[in-house]
Amino acid sequence: MPSEPQRHDTTNFKLRLTNVSKRYGHSDALVNANLVVSKGECVTLLGPSGSGKTTLLNVVAGLLPPDEGEVWIEDRLATHLPAYERDIGMMFQNYALFPHLTVYDNVAFPLRMRRERGARLRERVGAALAVVSLADKAHRMPSELSGGQQQRISLARALVYEPSIILMDEPLAALDKKLREQLQLEIRRIQKRLGITMLYVTHDQQEALLLSDRICLMNNARIEQVGSPDDLYFRPRSVFAADFIGDSNIFPAEVVTMSAGQACLRGPGGSTLQAATDLALKSGDKVQVMIRPERLRIGTPGQATELDDNCVPATLLETTFLGEATRYYASGPTGETFVSKALAGASSGVAPGEPVLLTADRDSIIVLSPDRDGR
Ligand SMILES: Nc1ncnc2c1ncn2[C@@H]1O[C@H](COP(=O)(O)OP(=O)(O)OP(=O)(O)O)[C@@H](O)[C@H]1O
Ligand SMILES: [Mg+2]
Repeated sequence: MPSEPQRHDTTNFKLRLTNVSKRYGHSDALVNANLVVSKGECVTLLGPSGSGKTTLLNVVAGLLPPDEGEVWIEDRLATHLPAYERDIGMMFQNYALFPHLTVYDNVAFPLRMRRERGARLRERVGAALAVVSLADKAHRMPSELSGGQQQRISLARALVYEPSIILMDEPLAALDKKLREQLQLEIRRIQKRLGITMLYVTHDQQEALLLSDRICLMNNARIEQVGSPDDLYFRPRSVFAADFIGDSNIFPAEVVTMSAGQACLRGPGGSTLQAATDLALKSGDKVQVMIRPERLRIGTPGQATELDDNCVPATLLETTFLGEATRYYASGPTGETFVSKALAGASSGVAPGEPVLLTADRDSIIVLSPDRDGR
């Protein structure tokens, strides 16, 4: 069961963007962005290439002045504050280490810039290297480290002066999968242990689901939806959100009746679907509906009848065994393909070409609001 949507505490915020916009010439890079990040929270900016993630991050960092809107860091209006006065640490993918400085001197650099010296400097560099488990590499040169170790040194350098906010722009994109997963867990552990507020850019949905307290999904210079990983996965609000994260069955339906947040819809082949929704819909509205493959059950027609709600008759096309799960492809009444995923061991007992009945619980049927581009 998905959990209830998380309430978000706006009184304890660390960072707040209100109606922030940025244009380059006639093209929008960011439109009316509103986002609140709590103290100690990790929010990822997730979205396709060009959707405005780096633009938003640069506005927060103070590297890019917005055309409109405000940036607040706690109770300070920071919109026009220079970057060095924002108490923000940054780790960018191309933020390479200084090749001519040792690991120690790389990590010490931000502290020296802040006029830290002597025993206190040594202590803080030592502590930052210990956090990333590389205290024994202090005297190596960056070229004598693996890619993953170099990324961890960059992380230590971003952490060393204990900024209250850390911004990361795809810091792990260049690493192989295994190392990336290891460092994702490490970043998550350090961020939680030190209580750092983090804004983390990625276009990798798996990374966003793993790292985030909340995900800020971006599309075409706009914030599409903000919510917990659970919210975005189980309660996407738009076709874009449903499509971007995870696998989904998305199909058209028409509203028959709507009352007290309950929609009765006419789905594929005239099937009747019942779904809860907070969208303002009326009879006759055309909508898109989403069901996650693991929430769509596949059974033999005898197990339910077409007269029951939330049942769609279909024909099994193909079964693929994925190890831990089995995926079933079925063709619906008007030729649409449905995907159902079940844990391995639960055999459907049906062969390709045979009739099946697809069923879903009411709370697994998600009514989506139309996208801005009218999908
Ligand atoms: N300096 C610039 N001049 C003109 N247009 C720009 C500039 N920087 C960014 N843009 C445009 O603004 C939009 C948002 O860019 P941004 O870099 O924020 O995207 P992104 O989500 O970080 O993408 P990616 O995942 O590819 O890094 C894009 O359409 C991009 O082409
Ligand atoms: Mg970018």
